Amino acid sequence: MVKSKYITSLLAKAKQNLKTIVLPEGEDVRVLEAAHIITEEGAAKIIILGNVQEMKAHFAANGWSTDGIEFIKPEESPRLNEYTELLYELRKEKGLTKEDAAKLALNYNYFGTLMIKSGHADGMVSGANHSTADTVRPALQIIKAAKKGGSASSFFIMLSNDTPYIFSDCGVIINPTDEELAGIALNAAQTAILFGIEPNVAMLSFSTKGSAKSDEVDKVKRATQIALEALKTDEYKDLGIRLDGELQADAALDAVVAAKKAPGSEVAGKARVLIFPNLEAGNICYKLLQRLGGCEAYGPILQGLNAPVNDLSRGCFAEDIVGAIAITCLQATK
Ligand SMILES: CC(C)(COP(=O)(O)OP(=O)(O)OC[C@H]1O[C@@H](n2cnc3c(N)ncnc32)[C@H](O)[C@@H]1OP(=O)(O)O)[C@@H](O)C(=O)NCCC(=O)NCCS
Repeated sequence: MVKSKYITSLLAKAKQNLKTIVLPEGEDVRVLEAAHIITEEGAAKIIILGNVQEMKAHFAANGWSTDGIEFIKPEESPRLNEYTELLYELRKEKGLTKEDAAKLALNYNYFGTLMIKSGHADGMVSGANHSTADTVRPALQIIKAAKKGGSASSFFIMLSNDTPYIFSDCGVIINPTDEELAGIALNAAQTAILFGIEPNVAMLSFSTKGSAKSDEVDKVKRATQIALEALKTDEYKDLGIRLDGELQADAALDAVVAAKKAPGSEVAGKARVLIFPNLEAGNICYKLLQRLGGCEAYGPILQGLNAPVNDLSRGCFAEDIVGAIAITCLQATK
């Protein structure tokens, strides 16, 4: 039973275009419960990696059907050699040997990522038992950023009383360059469009329109200019993206403050996409809102990759995993 209305609406969308999602952490009962819920909802085709006997025993003990779910033990998969060879071919120029490729392909996060690369799955959700770096690294190495030379970053969908906001980057790029910060904003704007959220993008800072002066503020100003220039190009000009900066969070979200601090801004007071100047600000902020502000947080979800691979917090609940799977399905329809 899914409580969030927003996630229920995403599940309904996922049902219309069924995607195959691989879950590499079959040893975790939260992952198994999420697989059961998604399958009962008919929202995705699920593949779970792990000890097949143990996973099926857990399903049986809970009275859950295993119909429609594929259980794979990577060590016994007939595709293991194919995936090892693929990994070797993709990474040999980086110095990966055949022996290392054979070991790495048995790492379930790599195995799952190789399934996507081979077209055997559309997306992956992992991280209930792995760090962000361990979940994300195979994707960066194998799936790669969609734009040549571009960066993948991440976003959270933050639900405040079921109203969704995009927060970015709260999970991947620790200290973005001007160009990376602009890229995060543009990717997050497109993410917002994909999820039906108004692409009103605020480039956040501790300054609003020059109210404070520092190198950090200047960086946000430069990134804003780079993003605004990009919005004039064919790639973005018809997408209806509105972007402004630098803005403090109150000016970005509150119309009364916006009228005082950023009069005339078409984003201030109406922002739904919040871009943080670095990972410290973004990560701390989303966790505070989740723990003290009563917001639901889904992510980090990667953006800017060729196919969706998404991370979970290690403290997640089964319902969070259901939400991450629904989000991954929607990204896979792009
Ligand atoms: C994401 C992260 C793990 C990548 O770091 P890393 O594993 O050390 O990555 P490397 O620098 O070794 O790069 C590995 C590959 O990924 C690529 N890569 C790294 N960051 C990338 C990005 N943001 N976008 C696209 N590609 C990226 C590199 O170019 C490299 O490719 P190559 O091996 O084909 O040349 C790192 O940025 C990180 O730790 N971020 C913080 C994660 C975190 O702790 N978040 C907080 C909790 S939510």
